[in-house]
Amino acid sequence: MRVGILTAGGDCPGLNAVIRAAARRLLAHGHEPVGLLRGYRGLAEADHMPLDQRAVSGILPLGGTILSTSNYNPFREPEGVEKVRAAQAGDARLDAVIAIGGEHTMMITRRLHEEIGVPVIGVPKTIDNDVVGTDYTFGFDTAVQVATDAIDRLHTTAQSHDRVMVLEVMGRNTGWIAVFAGIAGGADAILIPELELTVEDVAAAIARRHERGKDFSIVVVAEGAQLAFESGQHRQIRASEDVDSYGYPRLGGVGAALATEIEERTGYETRVTTLGHVQRGGTPTATDRVLATNYGVHAADLVMAGETGRMTALHGTEMTSVPLSEVEGIKTVDLRFLEIARTFFG
Ligand code: F6P
Repeated sequence: MRVGILTAGGDCPGLNAVIRAAARRLLAHGHEPVGLLRGYRGLAEADHMPLDQRAVSGILPLGGTILSTSNYNPFREPEGVEKVRAAQAGDARLDAVIAIGGEHTMMITRRLHEEIGVPVIGVPKTIDNDVVGTDYTFGFDTAVQVATDAIDRLHTTAQSHDRVMVLEVMGRNTGWIAVFAGIAGGADAILIPELELTVEDVAAAIARRHERGKDFSIVVVAEGAQLAFESGQHRQIRASEDVDSYGYPRLGGVGAALATEIEERTGYETRVTTLGHVQRGGTPTATDRVLATNYGVHAADLVMAGETGRMTALHGTEMTSVPLSEVEGIKTVDLRFLEIARTFFG
């Protein structure tokens, strides 16, 4: 079998580990894996590279993706679908495609399967951990570790200066990174898109700490959280008016706005740190390498078993798969984790 492997959407740590695992598994069974370049553009334009032993050697710990990525969507590009059909009708026809991506990639992957009959397997990735159908995506653990390291560092400088430190982390639609890093780093307040915590609640939590003799505080905010006020007013902060190719606003800046509000209300000196793409770059943690490898091997096994139209999924400790038709919407934070975090607010 000739099997295309592609990475689409935003990158995240562990993509190369999946590519290596899927390629090695396929090679071990006598199949031919090829790397499609720049996401689905590589499929439409038949732009690929061989994924032999040499190509995937040494990439396990590497961040990013050796195949490059893009937001190319054949259903939106002029003649995108025709190009995919033509590529699949030619000599370079692929017997299956393993598409590694987030919720938008899974949507495209499902449509290619249902509408054009491309035999596909999806592998869920994102640092945001918001893909429906799986408990954890690879890349999330690394992002949480980066954010936790940042909180640890902010703690010592906050303590030295009696300051409030606001840390803005990624999470466009969900607060998984904020909640997990907040618990791991001991945050005094966490703001996420799923649940409203007003600016006044945060100021009160900080004031309570000061009454207890704690002269510094750490506040974690997900970039997609709105600034909410007791008056019922809400503000969504954007970095610019731009939207990306999926129509999402370019977020960023809620941390700085929150810091201003906190300083005004509490009188305590407040600083902000925005982690941004640092959370998406660099080497994956050991946990993400294991998870990504598990996903890659399982994706190859599904291809070899002819079980296409599915997405690999982690359920508890079991690696399994779900039909792509069930992968719809966004997986919001399990609020039991927020309840745990709340124990330590203020
Ligand atoms: O979906 C992952 C994510 O990292 C979001 O948390 C973030 O809002 C977005 O990607 C940033 O995308 P870009 O790299 O296009 O700025």
